[in-house]
Amino acid sequence: MKIVLASDHAGFFLKEKIKDFLISEGFEVIDVGTNSHVSVDYPEYGAKAIEYILQGKAERGILICGTGIGMSIVANRFPGIRAALCHEPFSAKMARRHNNANVLVLGGRLIGDGMAIEIVKTFLTEPFEGGRHERRLNMIEALKPK
Ligand code: RB5
Repeated sequence: MKIVLASDHAGFFLKEKIKDFLISEGFEVIDVGTNSHVSVDYPEYGAKAIEYILQGKAERGILICGTGIGMSIVANRFPGIRAALCHEPFSAKMARRHNNANVLVLGGRLIGDGMAIEIVKTFLTEPFEGGRHERRLNMIEALKPK
């Protein structure tokens, strides 16, 4: 599975940890930056990662900023993207099973490396349940401003 990673400066160190973990597990990783702790604007990096998913160049994304909130707002502006901000594995499990989340968002200033890796493992292994959840996701995709 190809996974695209992006962070801003506040998520940079956690992104590097997650990248090492994914590579050690045999995943193909595309890292679109940022590449240091120097301050950058998260919308630029989040949108870059989302493009890879929308163009079919990656199946899943992992985005990290300080709280995860900014990256979530960015990602969920794009139709077809279902981004879930998770602070623990149960949310990641339900985000996959019920929401078919294709993007995981983490808060680099909120969680430690160990918790982050457990969340990532869950996000990458739990299946989507389909059925009534599929119907609800279709309803979300069809929503338009009045
Ligand atoms: C950067 O200081 C911070 O605002 C950003 O990482 C993120 O938390 C925004 O939601």
